[in-house]
Amino acid sequence: MLAGGGTLTLVNRDTFDHTVTSVATDAQGAPLFDVRVPAGTVATITGVSGLAAGSYPFFCRFHPRMRGELVVEGGAGPVTPEPVSFDQPLVVPDRVRGARVTLAMRQARVRMLPTGPRTRMWTYGGSYPGPTIVRPGGRETSVRFVHRLPRKAGAMTVHLHGDHHAPEHDGQPTTQLVRPGQSRTYEYPLTYGGLPEPSSFFFYHDHRMDRTARNNWRGLQGMFVVEDEDERRLRLPSGRRDVPLMVSDRSFRADNSLTDPFAGGVRMVGHDGAMSWVGPKAPPDDATVGTHVLVNGRYAPYLPVSATRYRLRLLNASHFSAYSFGLSDGRPLVQIGTGNGLLPRPVVRDRVLLGPAQRADVVVDFHGATGQDLVLDSVPAPLGESGDDARQAVVMQFRVGAEERDTSRVPAQLPSPDLVRAPARVSKRWTFDLGGAHPDAGHGGGQAGHGAGHGGGADRPRGTFWSVNGHAFDPTRIDHRPRLGTTERWRLRNTSDMTHYVHIHAEQWRTVRRNGKPPPPWERGLEDTWRLEPGEVVDVAARFEDYTGPFMIHCHMLDHEDHGMMARFDVVR
Ligand code: C2O
Ligand code: CU
Repeated sequence: MLAGGGTLTLVNRDTFDHTVTSVATDAQGAPLFDVRVPAGTVATITGVSGLAAGSYPFFCRFHPRMRGELVVEGGAGPVTPEPVSFDQPLVVPDRVRGARVTLAMRQARVRMLPTGPRTRMWTYGGSYPGPTIVRPGGRETSVRFVHRLPRKAGAMTVHLHGDHHAPEHDGQPTTQLVRPGQSRTYEYPLTYGGLPEPSSFFFYHDHRMDRTARNNWRGLQGMFVVEDEDERRLRLPSGRRDVPLMVSDRSFRADNSLTDPFAGGVRMVGHDGAMSWVGPKAPPDDATVGTHVLVNGRYAPYLPVSATRYRLRLLNASHFSAYSFGLSDGRPLVQIGTGNGLLPRPVVRDRVLLGPAQRADVVVDFHGATGQDLVLDSVPAPLGESGDDARQAVVMQFRVGAEERDTSRVPAQLPSPDLVRAPARVSKRWTFDLGGAHPDAGHGGGQAGHGAGHGGGADRPRGTFWSVNGHAFDPTRIDHRPRLGTTERWRLRNTSDMTHYVHIHAEQWRTVRRNGKPPPPWERGLEDTWRLEPGEVVDVAARFEDYTGPFMIHCHMLDHEDHGMMARFDVVR
């Protein structure tokens, strides 16, 4: 409570950095106040004196379950919140359908904010997101990426997230790179064990070691849809009523250029096999969260729709934030698939929680909403419930027009891909935690704590790192060797204080158990990325098919991935 305006002093007695960020935004969509308070420091919010009387809910961008409310009494300041106004149409990225696709990685100016200059990005093919590649399952597809970005951007590597393909086409973080001025062709057979892949919603993005967060922030992200010919007879909404929606967030300077959250944030100390990081944005304070939530690269877009069913393919391509998506009138999202195929049956959901790299295939029926403007938003769950750490945000608007002929439907049973039989025995355990010099490091896991996996170099400068089984990522270390043709059950465990989103390359996985129980109905299809709240344990299973060689398991919060939370497994004969 603040009377008559003034300055607000913020004291952070925690061991994590926090922000005090207003939910309300100005006419440009920026928060009315947004101050980062590093661990153990004091900061002030000036400009509070400018606020008009009223109440201003705030939250921490890095820990959205921390929330509060600032009440300004008697302040006569001119600053009042502006409602989000949805000033630009949603853009659906171009669809490319050929068997051979060439995409230049190049700089381009992209319309992101509704007014002012375009924003310079690093793009695939000149747009952000890059073109959506749409291909039938089982049809060989090759994508050639040509590196025309500035030399100083360094080498790139491209990962088709969710797809099953050979390791040399997987976008390895340190090998088979695409160097400036050169190109590389990635081959995607779109098959699994000789059969066409099921209808899927993948995305392609940069995966360069230590640079993934930066390269994705700059714009190297695009969507990829695998179509199943047989799906047509299901009569799910299709054509222009099948809309891919990539949600991400970015922060902008006054001239609409992207901020650089990575400049001067961290420094790597140590060397191969013993890496850790120091600096103001070293783990666990390495959260990249943009102020503006974007859909297909645009801030607060609107989409005119008819009062019919739509298939919305939701992808959270953000670095850190989770969103709990829902519609403003409480209209349900009927989830029919994950990113890796259909679910066995549709699941009616009020909200769909998606963390980084997670996808959901949902059908929305706009019937009966003619003349209304519905908002897709993200609202965190009440404190203490799963999803209480989702970000609060207005995402986009649907302007519902007239009813139209609609022959689509959502069948009660869906042809979902077969799941492997899960072995009773766990073949491999992967534990995710914080490691190194931080007071909270390695406390929960029973993994060796400080400096685990560091080989004990006493003179090594001590930083922090995100760890898998006590180690920071070392591209030369092989942590597991599953055999081709076998089915394995893996146990993922989060012993840290923070939620992580664990992604496994190479195969398509089923969720066997979540905290010892059968997974919820929306987690009964194939998956590649799991939410792991603090203390959670998830068992997954897959059959190792088709390819031998190195693959990655990592947290898909991109700063965590860059700062050690990745490991390598090699499928062997
Ligand atoms: Cu979407 Cu290993 O990444
Ligand atoms: Cu993480």
